[in-house]
Amino acid sequence: MRILLISDIHSNIEALKAILNKEKDFDLLAVAGDLVDYGTNPAECVEFFMNYKKPLALVHGNHDTHLINIYRNTDWKNVKGKDFKWVHENCWKLGEEHVSFLESLPDHLCFEADGWKYMIQHQYDSSYGIIESFKQFDNYWDEFSEYSGDYSRRRLIFGHSHRQTMSMLFGEREWINPGSISYRRPDDPDKEAHYAIIEDGKVEFRRTAYDRSVQFKVAQEHYKMGDMMETELQDFYFFFGPAKTSRDPLKIY
Ligand SMILES: [Fe+2]
Repeated sequence: MRILLISDIHSNIEALKAILNKEKDFDLLAVAGDLVDYGTNPAECVEFFMNYKKPLALVHGNHDTHLINIYRNTDWKNVKGKDFKWVHENCWKLGEEHVSFLESLPDHLCFEADGWKYMIQHQYDSSYGIIESFKQFDNYWDEFSEYSGDYSRRRLIFGHSHRQTMSMLFGEREWINPGSISYRRPDDPDKEAHYAIIEDGKVEFRRTAYDRSVQFKVAQEHYKMGDMMETELQDFYFFFGPAKTSRDPLKIY
């Protein structure tokens, strides 16, 4: 069995298309959440998953929940100028059908493949905590997995950190993070789309280049219009543009 494992799409349709162009042959698409926010094409990304007809293990992430909350419970249409963030920009580009779809996504999903039992979710705790001991692993597994109490070969799949990681714990317990297909953390200079392939149980981290100029152009437009919070634009100038750090002064390139 061949699994394409991706996470943290963040409204980046170019990165998603680049991976799908490269990896055409897989049996299951597993997605560890954060479909939207911090990117320019939320509707295209959500619609891709809404219309996906093949086997799919898709859970929601904290940015999906954040956007739902902003969309449902705040006066986002009247947020303007320096208070305007990517999440508000995404709300303008989404409709009821997209938000309802995000609301329908589960926290956790379980599946079996090639002798391993998997559970996929976006994050381990409410921050950036990770599993460091097999006791932590078992407690988490028993609390949330539909295979609770089954201690055969197990893998947890996480997203959230945007860092490609694989941790092997005693007794064939593993957790995997494929990284983000979209953007990196400020200490990571790599700008490619990160993902993983799990083929016949073997995990391989992969990366591919994609056209980041689409995201950057939208950020440039917001900068010229002066209609978005400065730190939100700085993030984009760093992730998708030529800025050397995530806090370089903004300028027209
Ligand atoms: Fe994320």
